[in-house]
This record gives sequence, C-alpha cells and structure tokens, in this order.
Amino acid sequence: MLVERIETALNAQIKIEAESSQFYLAMASWAESEGMNGTAKFLYLHSDEEREHMLKLVKFVNERGGQAIIPALSQPTSNFDSLNQVFEKLLSHEEFVTQSINELVHICFEEKDYTTQNFMQWYVSEQIEEEALARTILDKLNMIGNDKGGLYLFDRDLEMFVPHEGDEG
Ligand code: FEO
Repeated sequence: MLVERIETALNAQIKIEAESSQFYLAMASWAESEGMNGTAKFLYLHSDEEREHMLKLVKFVNERGGQAIIPALSQPTSNFDSLNQVFEKLLSHEEFVTQSINELVHICFEEKDYTTQNFMQWYVSEQIEEEALARTILDKLNMIGNDKGGLYLFDRDLEMFVPHEGDEG
C-alpha cells in the first residue's frame, strides 16, 4: 500500500512527466515547422520517452494499491527564437524534473517507503543521463553559434541520434 503522502507525490510526478512530454512535443513541432527535421525527430522521440516515464509511474501507483490520476495539462510554449533557446529551456526543465525526483526520494525516506524509493532509483539515473545529454547538445550549439553550415550538420547529427539503452521505460 502507498501512504497518502507518497501517492500524492507520485501523482504530482505523473503530471510533471506528462507536462515534459507536451513541452517537448511543442518543441518538436516548432523544429519541424522550421525545417529542422533531425532536431524534430530527436524531440518527438524525447516526448515519447517522457510519456513512457509517465506511464511507468501510472502503473506503479495502481499496482501498489493507489490511484494514478491523469492530469489536465496547460498549453506549452509553441514559439522559440532559436535552437539554443529550445535546448536551454529543455535543460532547465530537466533540472527542475531532477529536483522534483530528488524531493520524492526524500519523502520516501521520511515515510520509510523503501519499495517506492527503490523504484525511483531508475528515475534518478535517468535524470543524470538526460541532463548530461542536454548539456552536451547545448555546448555544441554554443560552439556553432550562427554558423549555418554548423547548424545544418548539427541537425543532421540529431537525425542519426539513437537513444541510450534503458530509455524504453
Ligand atoms: Fe522524465 Fe526528462 O524527465
């Protein structure tokens, strides 16, 4: 069984993962409309992964005798100034997600819920990789600056990107 405090925290995390998925979907659509197909493909994939993160939580809550609540979502930003801005927003959003997951793990310790704490370790590891990936991409973009040839190659590289193992959720 889940204590109420844990169930509430898990449901809050479900909403955050669902929002992440919407957020990256909006970024993907923007990139596609701007003709950056590699970036769009990467972001569509990232959006799908976030949905998997959400589903994994939904199933866990229900399996543990709680009730996963599917949240209403607000409309995400759909216009961006540049690829840099997209990935800056993505990184700061991931940092926010990491904070939220750390807080959830902290609550698990306080409530002595080691089952949920153990389950959440997957998310802790995932966040390390997601933040590192976002930082690597942002570093590349900062190096490229406004160089059109560089941006073309960047977009092509992202088209080839294969998600790391374990991303299937
Ligand atoms: Fe599921 Fe990117 O956090």
